[in-house]
Amino acid sequence: MSTLTRNDVTGRIMVALDYANAESAEGLLKQLEGIPCYVKVGMQLFYAAGPTFVASLKDRGYKVFLDVKMHDIPNTVKGGAESVTRLGVDVFNVHAAGGKYMMEAALEGVDKGLAVGAARPIVIGVTQLTSTSQQVLNDEIGVAGTTEQAVIRYARLAHAAGLNGVVASPLEVTAIKAACGDGFVTVTPGIRPAGADIGDQSRIMTPAEAFAQGTDYVVIGRPITGAADPRAAIEAIIDSIV
Ligand code: C5P
Repeated sequence: MSTLTRNDVTGRIMVALDYANAESAEGLLKQLEGIPCYVKVGMQLFYAAGPTFVASLKDRGYKVFLDVKMHDIPNTVKGGAESVTRLGVDVFNVHAAGGKYMMEAALEGVDKGLAVGAARPIVIGVTQLTSTSQQVLNDEIGVAGTTEQAVIRYARLAHAAGLNGVVASPLEVTAIKAACGDGFVTVTPGIRPAGADIGDQSRIMTPAEAFAQGTDYVVIGRPITGAADPRAAIEAIIDSIV
């Protein structure tokens, strides 16, 4: 039994709007109308619908995670962070693999872009993509050791740079909290309700299991967006947690 209320849980579900255009995303938003979940705008939708769409989400009161995974030279990331902070997003992310200096530059960009009185966005480091298997990590990317070791190394680096948290698999939440403290935010994709299609994800858990690990936010895409009835799908997910 969880001590989380239905509203707590709903506000900690980030629905991935992985769509090709604003019109398709709006279709899903209409189906989820009134459900106070977060929405996640990733590169597909952002490259197509851009800042205008994000600004319109903010105007309508949505909490927005802009998942554009910045990874570039520090000066460029600083500029990118400044721009997305001006847009008013609630959460955005940068790759921890860009290094400590790059992550610090992102925070400087936030300082520059933050309007007087505006809430500071939560800045999250991407550790190891949840689609990355052990074999891919070692043989293709060339990083030795276990996935968990790589994730914890990135989490410590993001923490040292002053970021608010990391994106990781729910399987790594306990170790991340142990290494960086309970207040270090975890955002966890790789969520699949029991019996759902795994797709290209590799390190997965059910929504209830992820919350039981102590994760702060779960990111859920296709199990909701690909469902015949997305509203029923998110309601069933919430029911499985509270
Ligand atoms: O459809 P699915 O639930 O697999 O969607 C997961 C979402 O989370 C996608 O938008 C993906 O880009 C994002 N994501 C991820 N792994 C990360 C960071 C983000 O799957 N490490």
